[in-house]
Amino acid sequence: MAVCVSLINMKGGVGKTTLASQIAWHAVMQMDKKVLLIDLDPQANASQSVMSPEGWLNYLDKGGLTVADVFEQFTPTGVASGSPKKLDPLKAIHKRVDYKDGSLLHIVPSRLELSWTLRNPTGKETLLARFVAKVEQNYDLIIIDCSPTDSILTDAAYHCTRHILVPIRAEFLASIGFPLLNRSVQAFKMRHEDKVIEICGLVFNDFVRGNEKREHKLARQDVKDKAAAKEYGWYVFDNDIPHSDSYFRAARDGMPISRTKGAHHKVKDEFATFAEEFFPRIGL
Ligand SMILES: Nc1ncnc2c1ncn2[C@@H]1O[C@H](COP(=O)(O)OP(=O)(O)OP(=O)(O)O)[C@@H](O)[C@H]1O
Ligand SMILES: [Mg+2]
Repeated sequence: MAVCVSLINMKGGVGKTTLASQIAWHAVMQMDKKVLLIDLDPQANASQSVMSPEGWLNYLDKGGLTVADVFEQFTPTGVASGSPKKLDPLKAIHKRVDYKDGSLLHIVPSRLELSWTLRNPTGKETLLARFVAKVEQNYDLIIIDCSPTDSILTDAAYHCTRHILVPIRAEFLASIGFPLLNRSVQAFKMRHEDKVIEICGLVFNDFVRGNEKREHKLARQDVKDKAAAKEYGWYVFDNDIPHSDSYFRAARDGMPISRTKGAHHKVKDEFATFAEEFFPRIGL
């Protein structure tokens, strides 16, 4: 059975997509794992990064199916696919990204129309888990990149996932979303007592290296103190992902940071060090 981890933080722009795709690549390239990345955000940033913006548009133009089709597969009007045909998500949704060295990353792409699911969400929250149950035997790791809003899509991720990774920025208000995240997870657990979901940790991302400003230090201490509080008891990773423009380039080129042109070896080492701390926490 695959290990499933979701990247969640209801605060936007904290690095969920960046880390989801980099962790996916690391597992494929450095650990030789079979990985499925599920883009569960209507913004489709993970899809655009892994497939390139043009590749993703071509894929949609050719009628390639997306995670929106998983949610709309029983919708008579077939909003996402444009027709009411019955879908075979097993066959249709995988996008195989194949690099020269034979490394593979499988992705379930997203598209803007996924947001339509939010308008009429009744009965759809378990459809992704049903899809995952059908394909998970093919993977060691399934990574779900979530959108920054708490919605039926978050519940759909909870149904699939065992672990939640929370990227945060060391900035003012970094911890303001903790009660929301906690409530969201706890409310789900109350409704589904058999489900085991754990926050595997909070990771400081996009951290300014070296000249750490006083506010950053305060924000960092605040996050550590709050995460350690009794109502949460969340782990904070010792290893940060410091700021590097190479992450931007990696996203643009759809590449792992370890193979990104011009990326400093220090940046690669920092990510690898975080990965060494991260993977054992999810049992990989
Ligand atoms: N460690 C980093 N160093 C430099 N830039 C980074 C780093 N992490 C993320 N970024 C940049 O910050 C921006 C936001 O990151 P990203 O899209 O991963 O956040 P997100 O949490 O997925 O956002 P959203 O909530 O909108 O989905 C992107 O432009 C990304 O390239
Ligand atoms: Mg994102």
